[in-house]
Amino acid sequence: MATVSFLLPFITAVLLLTPSSSLTSQPSDAFPSNTPMRFLGKHYTESNLSANNTRYLINTEHWVGPSRFGPIFLYCGNEDDIELFAVNTGFVWDIAPHFGAMILFPEHRYYGESMPFGSRGEAYRNATTLSYLTAEQALADFALLITDLKKNLSAEGCPVVLFGGSYGGMLAAWMRLKYPHIAVGALASSAPILQFEDIVPPETFYNIVSNSFKRESSSCFDTIKKSWNALTSEVQKEDGLRQLSKTFRFCRELKSVQDLTDWLDSAYSYLAMVNYPYPANFIMPLPAHPVKEVCRKIDGSPPDSSILERIFNGVSVFYNYTGGVDCFQLDDDPHGIDGWDWQACTEIVMPMGSDRNTSMFPAYDWDYSAFREGCKRDFQVTPRPRWITTEFGGHGIEHALKFFGSNIIFSNGLLDPWSGGSVLKNISETIVALVTEEGAHHIDLRASTMEDPDWLVEQRATEVKLIQGWLDNYMKNMKAAFNI
Ligand SMILES: *[C@@H]1O[C@H](CO)[C@@H](O)[C@H](O)[C@H]1NC(C)=O
Ligand SMILES: *[C@@H]1O[C@H](CO)[C@@H](O)[C@H](O)[C@H]1NC(C)=O
Ligand SMILES: *[C@@H]1O[C@H](CO)[C@@H](O)[C@H](O)[C@H]1NC(C)=O
Ligand SMILES: *[C@@H]1O[C@H](CO)[C@@H](O)[C@H](O)[C@H]1NC(C)=O
Ligand SMILES: *[C@@H]1O[C@H](CO)[C@@H](O)[C@H](O)[C@H]1NC(C)=O
Ligand SMILES: *[C@@H]1O[C@H](CO)[C@@H](O)[C@H](O)[C@H]1NC(C)=O
Ligand SMILES: *[C@@H]1O[C@H](CO)[C@@H](O)[C@H](O)[C@H]1NC(C)=O
Repeated sequence: MATVSFLLPFITAVLLLTPSSSLTSQPSDAFPSNTPMRFLGKHYTESNLSANNTRYLINTEHWVGPSRFGPIFLYCGNEDDIELFAVNTGFVWDIAPHFGAMILFPEHRYYGESMPFGSRGEAYRNATTLSYLTAEQALADFALLITDLKKNLSAEGCPVVLFGGSYGGMLAAWMRLKYPHIAVGALASSAPILQFEDIVPPETFYNIVSNSFKRESSSCFDTIKKSWNALTSEVQKEDGLRQLSKTFRFCRELKSVQDLTDWLDSAYSYLAMVNYPYPANFIMPLPAHPVKEVCRKIDGSPPDSSILERIFNGVSVFYNYTGGVDCFQLDDDPHGIDGWDWQACTEIVMPMGSDRNTSMFPAYDWDYSAFREGCKRDFQVTPRPRWITTEFGGHGIEHALKFFGSNIIFSNGLLDPWSGGSVLKNISETIVALVTEEGAHHIDLRASTMEDPDWLVEQRATEVKLIQGWLDNYMKNMKAAFNI
C-alpha cells in the first residue's frame, strides 16, 4: 500500500476547507456588536522581521484598566484567520469578566490578513519571501504588539496571560519560556511540543486515532484496517478507479487511489480530534461523539454490504452529516501554497508513521529522506528537523523546566491524537498537566455549554484557579516591590 501523503494532518488542513461555514455557525456572543471599544486593529512596525501589519482583535468591555492592574488575556493566533480562533475559543471570553480582563487575539503572520510584503500573492511568492514565516517571528510579532499596546494605554503594569490551542498552544508555552518578562503564565491546550525528532515514537498519532475507533468497536477498527487492501484490489480491476469514484460518489473521477486514501485518512484523523461529547461545528458540522456515530454506520450497514460500502456509509457522517452534499469534491489545490505546509517543511517537522499491528491505517515507517525530497520538490526548501528542539527545547523537558520555568498549564484530552506528543505529567508545582480521559482536541478552550460533562467543568475550574494563583502572586510581588 502506498504511504499516506507527506503533508501532515494538522488541524489546519481541514480548517481551510470550510472556513466560512465554521465561522458563521459559532456562538453569537463571541463578538457582541454593542461591545464598547471593540475594534479590529492593525499593528504597523518598523522591523526587519517583515510582518509590519499584524492584525489583532481586541475587547476591553470587561477590562478594569491600568489603575487596577487589569490583566490582559492574549490568545496566540495560529495557522488561520484569527477570527476563526476568536469564535472557537469561548473559554477566554467566558472567564474575562470574572478577571476584569482585556481580550486580545493577534493574528499569526502569513495567515488571514496579516501578510507581509503587502499581499498574499507577494508573501507567498517563493522560498525567499516565505522565509519570514516562522514560529519565532510570530512570537516576536506578539511581543512587539503587546509592548506597544501597553505603552499606549499606560498599562505597563498589567499582567499578560497567554492562551493557545494546538499549534497556538505550542506558541503560548514557547512564548512563556522565551518572554518571561512579557507574560506571567500560559494555558497551552493540546500543544504537541514533544512531537519532534525521536522524543515520542512516530506511530503515536495514528495509534491514538486507531484506539479511538477500537474503543467504540473492534469490528469497526477491523473493517477500516481491512479496507485499504480492498481499495487496492478494487483499483486493480478493469475500470477500477471509475468504479471507486462511483462507490464514493466523487464529482469527478479519481486520478489515483492515493487521493482516496488521503481523503479517508484525513476524515478519520479529524474525527478523532473533534470527538467531542456534544454536537459541534469546528471543522465540519458533526454529531456528539462522532467516532461512535461513524462506527455505528460501519457496523450497522446492511449485512450484505461490502467493506467499501461500509466505509462509505461511515465517512459520510464526516463529509455529509447535514445531508447537503450532492457529490464529494477532492480539493486538488484550492489555495495554492498553504502556510502550514510550508511551516511543516521548514521548522515544524513532526515525524509520522503507522504501526503494522496497532494502527488501522496502512503501515508505513517515517521516512525522513522522502519527506525532505517532497519539501524540495514543493517548496524548494530543505527542512530543519532539529531546529525546534534547539530553539525551544523538548528533550528531557521535565528536567529543563523543573528548576527554571513556571506557570504553564498543559491541558490535554487523551482522545486527541495530538495528546501523545504533549506534556502529560506534572513537571513542578507551577508547570502542571491537566489530563482528561474523555477530552478531545482543546475542548477546554471552547465556550461552556449546557451539555458540558462534569470532568470538563472541573477541568476549566482548575484552570481558572491556577490562573488566579499566577495573578495573585504577580500582585503580591508588585505590591511588595512598589510598596503599594
Ligand atoms: C534592516 O536591515 C538592514 C540591513 O541590515 C538595515 O540597514 C536596516 O536599517 C534595518 N531596518 C530596520 C527597520 O531595522
Ligand atoms: C509594510 O506595510 C506597507 C503598507 O501595508 C507595505 O506597503 C510594505 O510593503 C510593508 N513592508 C514589508 C516589508 O512588508
Ligand atoms: C523570490 O522572488 C524575489 C522577487 O521577485 C526574488 O528577488 C528572489 O530571488 C526570489 N527567490 C527565489 C528563491 O526564487
Ligand atoms: C500606539 O500608538 C501609536 C501612536 O499613536 C500608534 O501608531 C500605534 O498604532 C499604537 N499601537 C497600538 C498597538 O495600539
Ligand atoms: C448526502 O446525504 C443526503 C441525505 O442523506 C443524500 O441524499 C446524498 O446523496 C448524500 N450525498 C452523497 C455524496 O453521498
Ligand atoms: C506484529 O505482529 C506480528 C504477528 O502477530 C508479530 O510477529 C510482530 O512481532 C508484531 N510486531 C510488533 C512491532 O509488535
Ligand atoms: C497536576 O497537578 C494538578 C494540581 O496542581 C492536579 O490537578 C493534576 O491532576 C496533576 N496532573 C497529573 C497528570 O497528575
